Formats: sequence, C-alpha cells, structure tokens
Amino acid sequence: MADRVAIVTGAARGIGAAVAQRLAADGLAVALLDLDEQGVRDGADKIVAGGGRAIGLKVDVADEEQVNAAVAKVAEQLGAPTVLINNAGVLRDNLLFKMSASDWDTVMNVHLRGAFLMSKAVQAFQTKEGFGRIVNLSSTSALGNRGQANYAAAKAGLQGFTKTLAIELGKFGVTVNAIAPGFIVTEMTKATAERMKISFEDLVNGSAAAIPVARVGQPEDIAHTASFLVSEGAGFVSGQVIYVAGGPKD
Ligand SMILES: NC(=O)c1ccc[n+]([C@@H]2O[C@H](COP(=O)([O-])OP(=O)(O)OC[C@H]3O[C@@H](n4cnc5c(N)ncnc54)[C@H](O)[C@@H]3O)[C@@H](O)[C@H]2O)c1
Repeated sequence: MADRVAIVTGAARGIGAAVAQRLAADGLAVALLDLDEQGVRDGADKIVAGGGRAIGLKVDVADEEQVNAAVAKVAEQLGAPTVLINNAGVLRDNLLFKMSASDWDTVMNVHLRGAFLMSKAVQAFQTKEGFGRIVNLSSTSALGNRGQANYAAAKAGLQGFTKTLAIELGKFGVTVNAIAPGFIVTEMTKATAERMKISFEDLVNGSAAAIPVARVGQPEDIAHTASFLVSEGAGFVSGQVIYVAGGPKD
C-alpha cells in the first residue's frame, strides 16, 4: 500500500483518529479531515513525526465546495486519493416526538450528504487509477435504536449507499464496504452517558455485560477492520456490511 493515499473524515479524534494512525502505520499517506482543525493537525504531525506522510485539513463534509477544494488539495499535496474512509459523524438523539427537524437534517447532512459528496469527489481519482477502496462507517443502530430515529435512518441509508456504490464502481477496481460498529469507547459514547445521566463506567459495564466477547470496543478494533478492507488483498470483498460489535448483530 506504500504509494496509496487515503482520506479519513472525522479524523480529529475517536475512531477516525485511530483509523488514520493505523493506515499510516500500514504505509499509506493520510489526509485527515475534520471540523476540528487543531485535532487533525496534531494527528498529521504525529504521523509525520513517525516518518509517514500526512496533512490535516479543516473541512465540513456536508459542504460541497469545501469537500471539492479539500480533495483537490489532497491530490496536489499527497497524490491521487484512492482510499476513502467516510467516518465523520454526529449524534442528535431524541425520541421522535421531541426530535427537531434541524436535528434530523444535521444527522442526514453529516452522514449521508457528507459520504455522498466525499465519495463523488474521490471516485474521479479512483476510476482514473483503476483502484479504489471506500469504507463507510455505519452502526449497529442501523438495525433500530430507541432515541435515534435520525441516526438509525442515516446509518441504514449508508448501507444502501455502500451496496449501490459497490455495484457501480466495481468494474473500475473500486471496492465499497461498510463497518457497523457496536459500542466503541470514544467521546461520542461518553456524550451518550452524559445525556442518559449515568456514569460512563456504568454505561461501559452495562454494555459489556450484553456483548458476547464480554467487553466494549476500542477505536483500534475498527481501525484493524478498516486496514483489512482497504488492503490490496481485499479486492474481492465488496458491498458488505461488517458488524464489529463483539458478537452477531444482524
Ligand atoms: N463510538 C461508537 O460507539 C460508534 C458506534 C457505531 C458507529 N460509530 C460511528 O463511527 C464514526 C466515528 O465515531 P466516533 O465515536 O469516533 O465519534 P466522535 O464524536 O468521537 O468523532 C467524530 C468526529 O467527526 C467530526 N465531524 C462531525 N461533523 C463533521 C463534519 N460535518 N465534517 C467533518 N468532520 C465532522 C467531529 O469533529 C469528530 O472529530 C461516526 O460515523 C459514528 O457514527 C461510532
């Protein structure tokens, strides 16, 4: 993978940060994109300090102009991006009767519009190169989760998006897959504990008790799966949703 260039969205922290570090360790040049400019700069600096190639860019994945400008900048500074991890995400949880239209739109815009805009910009390079890997971050919530009508719909939507792109782009050497994580320890799950007004420790312990491998996930669990899916050898795996949840989910 030494000559490949990857873009990871939502790479300032959590799962995206771990995926960026892992792909760099695998030998890819990595562009870290996020709303949090300091976070992606720090992540890129860490990769460069370790002898890798990386840049950090402030981008709102839901903004078409910013996405197109950022992808062009990545191509200019690192080379043609052929690996894309659509990871940026937000929560705006609430029961349906309390969910605002703006909370619905925000979740759709970041997850679905963001993945659409990023994939559209990057596929131009992938089809030209005759190689590509797209990995979309779905969730076990795609199967339904109380208080997450917006998020569950977006994450289920990403699965249909994944399968469709796999069909359209396969002949160009591009595979498209989704990872659907269960409970992963990040700021996102910490925020969930706060909203539920329980301690993070209680949420972790309660969740682990219901998971077959008897522990919650770490960002590195997802990074490991992403590393496999973007590898050269995974070229015959496409259109799949891999539940990385410590047990069967679908
Ligand atoms: N943590 C979990 O348990 C879990 C489970 C299933 C799926 N996921 C999914 O994995 C992905 C990463 O989750 P995480 O737990 O690391 O979350 P996180 O909140 O720790 O990190 C998400 C990152 O996305 C960035 N982001 C948000 N909106 C953006 C935008 N418009 N443009 C660019 N960047 C933006 C944030 O700034 C943040 O750095 C998300 O798509 C999430 O839905 C997480």
